[in-house]
Amino acid sequence: MKPGKTAYGLISDGALAIKDGLIAYCGPDAELPNAYADWPQKDLGSSLITPALIDCHTHVVFGGNRAREFEMRLEGAEYEEIARAGGGIVSTVTATRSASEEELLESALPRVDTLIAEGVSTLEIKSGYGLDIESELKMLRVARHIGDLRDITVKTTYLAAHAMPPEYKGKPQGYLDDVVLPGLEKAHAEGLVDAVDGFCEGIAFQPDEIAQVFDKAKALGLLVKLHAEQLSNLGGAALAASYGALSADHLEYLDEAGVKAMAEADTVAVLLPGAFYTLRETQSPPVDLIRQHGVSLAIATDCNPGTSPLTSLLLTLNMACTLFRLTPEEALIGTTRNAAKALGLSDRGMLSEGLRADFNIWNAAHPAELCYRIGFNPLTKRYFGGTPCVQ
Ligand code: NIG
Ligand code: FE
Repeated sequence: MKPGKTAYGLISDGALAIKDGLIAYCGPDAELPNAYADWPQKDLGSSLITPALIDCHTHVVFGGNRAREFEMRLEGAEYEEIARAGGGIVSTVTATRSASEEELLESALPRVDTLIAEGVSTLEIKSGYGLDIESELKMLRVARHIGDLRDITVKTTYLAAHAMPPEYKGKPQGYLDDVVLPGLEKAHAEGLVDAVDGFCEGIAFQPDEIAQVFDKAKALGLLVKLHAEQLSNLGGAALAASYGALSADHLEYLDEAGVKAMAEADTVAVLLPGAFYTLRETQSPPVDLIRQHGVSLAIATDCNPGTSPLTSLLLTLNMACTLFRLTPEEALIGTTRNAAKALGLSDRGMLSEGLRADFNIWNAAHPAELCYRIGFNPLTKRYFGGTPCVQ
């Protein structure tokens, strides 16, 4: 997936040299500089090597689960109806608030490990199920702890503007003033925030409310992203773009004006086929417009207990192709190069000299196999910062 070569930037008979955790050379074996000739070498046979995968949108830390809500939807209830009746996100909030840091960690690790087992080496984790200052900080501490316990990079995102907690029902400004804005300052002061997110939707926050969160983020020097245009079009993507957002995510109801605004701001479009699938959404994101306007496309699991209980980035690749008609090349770029861009990371996502040596070795002959198979994991080995990982 090195740009400018054949499709996927595929190099047959390639060689990769690693020095100090970085890629020192990536190219044809025949052109490997002499300087590397007597370095220790490993023959990887006919394996496929790709950049490590990046899951750029997850809510992997949470309490409880929402299997009962899944049942309710099968009995005819709608996602928005459940949310308005105090279920949905708020039911996860109750379970998250009552869980200790240790309990949240213990329940999140198997999900994280499942992602890692498929070659994920960079993982974004959002708060957003605490909705009071201490519980939001608790989620972010757990996220940071996961990064310490595993050979991965964790990027944290502050998402207190995810839903209205029951104690502030009908008082959005009170919630912003008492919790979201001071909580952001506090979390930032503790070094817990890499980016700031919100949910711009009828059942969540209006654009003018999100703008207040973004203004605070800007004042603190933090970059933003937004759950936008998932269930309706409130102009969230254009709002995010006006703040130079890293990404706008979901986007099923995105219109051309929103796409143009994203193109101008170079905001990445993150598509989340797991949520589309789980909610049996019928409106697809406007992939053709996104392509026409040259907006970078990424995809992610959106791993969360309500709309996307998905812990497979390989399955997400397949879903992005099957449900949204992405090409396998677009889907793979969407979990490597463009996923890095959606996280503001310029040191990874490609097999290029000078970038981190985060890469995967697959038992596959062609990259399209990673998108084509359903429920099969061909990962042989994962390298993180140049070091082979046990897991
Ligand atoms: O990304 N869209 C909002 N947030 C989550 C859903 C959270 C939930 O239902 O628990 C999402 O899909
Ligand atoms: Fe999400």
